[in-house]
Amino acid sequence: MQNYSFFCYYSNNHYSFADLFFGQWTDCRLHMRIFKERKLLTQWLRGERSAGKTIGFVPTMGALHAGHLALVHRARRENDLGVCSIFVNPIQFDKADDLATYPRMPAKDLALLESAECDAVFCPDTEEMYPEKVQKKFDFGHLDKVMEGKHRKGHFNGVAIVVDKLFNIVTPHRAYFGEKDFQQLQIIRTMVKMEGHQTAVVGCPTVRESDGLAMSSRNARLTSEQRKEAPRIYKALLKAKQLFPAQSAEATQLQVISDINASPLLEVEYCEIVCPDTLLPIKQFRNGKVAVCCVAVYAGTVRLIDNLAINS
Ligand code: PAJ
Repeated sequence: MQNYSFFCYYSNNHYSFADLFFGQWTDCRLHMRIFKERKLLTQWLRGERSAGKTIGFVPTMGALHAGHLALVHRARRENDLGVCSIFVNPIQFDKADDLATYPRMPAKDLALLESAECDAVFCPDTEEMYPEKVQKKFDFGHLDKVMEGKHRKGHFNGVAIVVDKLFNIVTPHRAYFGEKDFQQLQIIRTMVKMEGHQTAVVGCPTVRESDGLAMSSRNARLTSEQRKEAPRIYKALLKAKQLFPAQSAEATQLQVISDINASPLLEVEYCEIVCPDTLLPIKQFRNGKVAVCCVAVYAGTVRLIDNLAINS
């Protein structure tokens, strides 16, 4: 039997956190540092930075899958250190039920991050992230008035607040975000400019299941029937890409909606074709002008989002 050799920087009780996450494993050797307190993480990172190391950061809400891990691998590849955070951010949820049912599997997440050779993980609790009532209001203009911003009130303000706080704690050289959350990526880029962060925001391609369904922590909540129908979303986007050059955006959107809604288990909330930078609607195909088709779909109570560049 090997010894445990992970670093758990947790000031109150060194062992309870470890027991909580690793109690059931007896023969693994872990190298990843686990921080629950921002102060200790900041201290450690300060040392690493002054030794000349670059930091690549991947913020997540856990329930990790291959999409998240692709970001971690890239962060590791392009920087000296890969740091990940796991925090289910309560202030970005517009529905209490969605927050309550959001999948949480910390032991599995830490094992996956360890095997991805992540150097450190930050797992704060809500008190640690929000010791005081949150007041800040970002003004993203049009960017958060459409699509996710329109349908999930306050969502992007919550995302921007937590990522701003995380960037202040980690001060990464580069931070990695998935294009799956396309609008979020634009919001983060804007927040970084507004707040003057010195972090380069790197967008990474969407990782899909073999049948095309975009990987998402929420997929775990689909019933087996819903899971069988969910790949229709990506198929409809691929068809939109084929059709768009020859027809209007409106006709393309209607086609996507009817293809997805043809399944009694799926219901489109919105389908928009937008310019990737401004998120303003695009009405017609134009050679060389990128257009992204974005959808949100309900499968029962599970909300899935996806998007595809349809004229590249
Ligand atoms: P979460 O949904 O856990 O996603 C964390 C990161 O993984 C995001 O950048 C997201 O776009 C990326 N990601 C998720 N699924 C992906 C896939 N299939 N392919 C590629 N990347 C994927 O997004 C959040 O958490 C939160 O809003 C957060 C930014 C952490 C703020 O709380």
